Amino acid sequence: MPGFRTLDTLEARGKRVLLRADLNVPMQDGKVSDLTRLERLSSTIRELAEKGAKVIVLSHFDRPKGKRVPEMSLKPVAEALGRVLGRPVGFAADCIGAPAEKAVAGMQPGDVLVLENTRFHAGEERNEPALADAIARLGDAYVNDAFSAAHRAHATTEALAHRLPPYAGRLMQAELEALEQALGNPARPVAAIVGGSKVGTKLDLLGNLVAQVNHLVIGGAMANTFLAARGVAVGRSLQEAELHDTAREIEAKAKAAGCAILLPVDAVVARDLRAGAPSETVTIDAVPDDAMILDVGPLTTASVLDRLAACRTLVWNGPLGAFETPPFDVATVRVAKGVAWLTKAGTLLSVAGGGDTVAALRHAGVAEDLTYVSAAGGAFLEWMEGKTLPGVAALAV
Ligand code: 3PG
Repeated sequence: MPGFRTLDTLEARGKRVLLRADLNVPMQDGKVSDLTRLERLSSTIRELAEKGAKVIVLSHFDRPKGKRVPEMSLKPVAEALGRVLGRPVGFAADCIGAPAEKAVAGMQPGDVLVLENTRFHAGEERNEPALADAIARLGDAYVNDAFSAAHRAHATTEALAHRLPPYAGRLMQAELEALEQALGNPARPVAAIVGGSKVGTKLDLLGNLVAQVNHLVIGGAMANTFLAARGVAVGRSLQEAELHDTAREIEAKAKAAGCAILLPVDAVVARDLRAGAPSETVTIDAVPDDAMILDVGPLTTASVLDRLAACRTLVWNGPLGAFETPPFDVATVRVAKGVAWLTKAGTLLSVAGGGDTVAALRHAGVAEDLTYVSAAGGAFLEWMEGKTLPGVAALAV
């Protein structure tokens, strides 16, 4: 991982600091429905404001595709940010030009201002120099706290970092440090748990992981594709028949790299996926023709926990079963609680990320108990794929 500057070395007093945040928060009926991203961002904003910076927050929101879409305005998000911070937050109706320049000119040290959705300009997603130049004129320094948008090479995540002295905000710093500990330079043995429904969306990720980790646990519906590729009859389970060759290639790559793949040895099956549906636990060679695998079974869960007890590091993306629909949440909850316990005991460094995974950890009541839980979705996956994230690369010094 390249080196980057942190807020420790930013002389912020009186400076106009352009803070690239990720205010792409979930909304319902015009109101922010989950404050997690705003709460996580608040420590960087508070620190900058307390040091006397003029904090100018930049972000995209949703995907307006270069047009001004009123429903995708950041105004209600700026208001919610003010409530989270417990201080007034200004708002400018554009991120460049007269509205932005006037609002910035009126700022005092310690003030916080949110500029309108950067994606209202087509130049944002095109990483256009002209847009980056226009935004750069508003600031003296650039701080990126949007790890979750760092997989995008956009004007405010990439080009802008080359126009002003770049710094990582506290949230970006925490993400990068946690990710470095988990896969960059981890304490071994390292395990990864990868679940979710589709192998197709996680091929690069699996390919990268087998070369990095000692144990790879595959759960969720993607395990069915691997099982079927091994010749196991999986009944009516969700699986991707066209990817059997790919699954076998990943298994061969793992073998060559000395990575042990753990697939389910038993499963919880049912005839339909609905809460409380009658279910039974079977060994993996006895899945009925008319049933679907909806969770891994207790033998598999015990074996996963045994391996984790012998590991020093875990990186986790994707649930083991259909955890949103009890009783098919049992394995995910048990493993989540076990990971939390091992983390608290100090034997395991645990890093998890991705939307479903965070929801599953919350469901298990342990979202606060892992070493680090990333609020990023796509960026976390691309990092697990071993890709260089443009927004991180641009911070390199
Ligand atoms: C996210 O919510 O994952 C980020 O804000 C990125 O959003 P995008 O997928 O629209 O670029």
